[in-house]
Amino acid sequence: MPKIKLFLAITVGIGIFGANAIAGDANLVKEGEKIFNTKKIGNCLACHAVNGKNINNPGNLGPKLQGLSAWPKQALYDKVYNPYTTNPTSAMPPFGLNGVLDDHQIKAVVAYLKTIK
Ligand code: HEC
Repeated sequence: MPKIKLFLAITVGIGIFGANAIAGDANLVKEGEKIFNTKKIGNCLACHAVNGKNINNPGNLGPKLQGLSAWPKQALYDKVYNPYTTNPTSAMPPFGLNGVLDDHQIKAVVAYLKTIK
């Protein structure tokens, strides 16, 4: 019954791959959250409160972040990379353009931002 074996191999394969992908996402979200909340790295907390989260003394120069899960990933990436493209007078620093965060770090932050309802 080679067909059944093949079917099982594919099903198990997809199962393992899927679980890895989910664990990878969770790690990326954790990493992004850390960058977001760490003064010496992203320090997003200096200007942003996050909806539904009890974070100590967030700054309020930037808007309270909410509903970001609805944003496309690319829009979030662009916002963090260089906010001036969408808002030329933004008070938010261009974290990608000025080299404070690298590509991987921005992707991690975006993964975290995507969890903000
Ligand atoms: C110096 C203050 C400051 C810091 C630090 C800062 N931001 Fe901002 N941010 C702003 C301001 C002001 C705005 C609103 C103007 C704009 O949209 O550009 C904004 C807007 C945003 C928006 C769009 C929110 C919306 O609802 O339109 C996102 C997403 C965002 N910031 C994410 C981040 C992330 C992630 C970091 C850290 C890597 C960060 N910000 C750090 C000031 C800041």
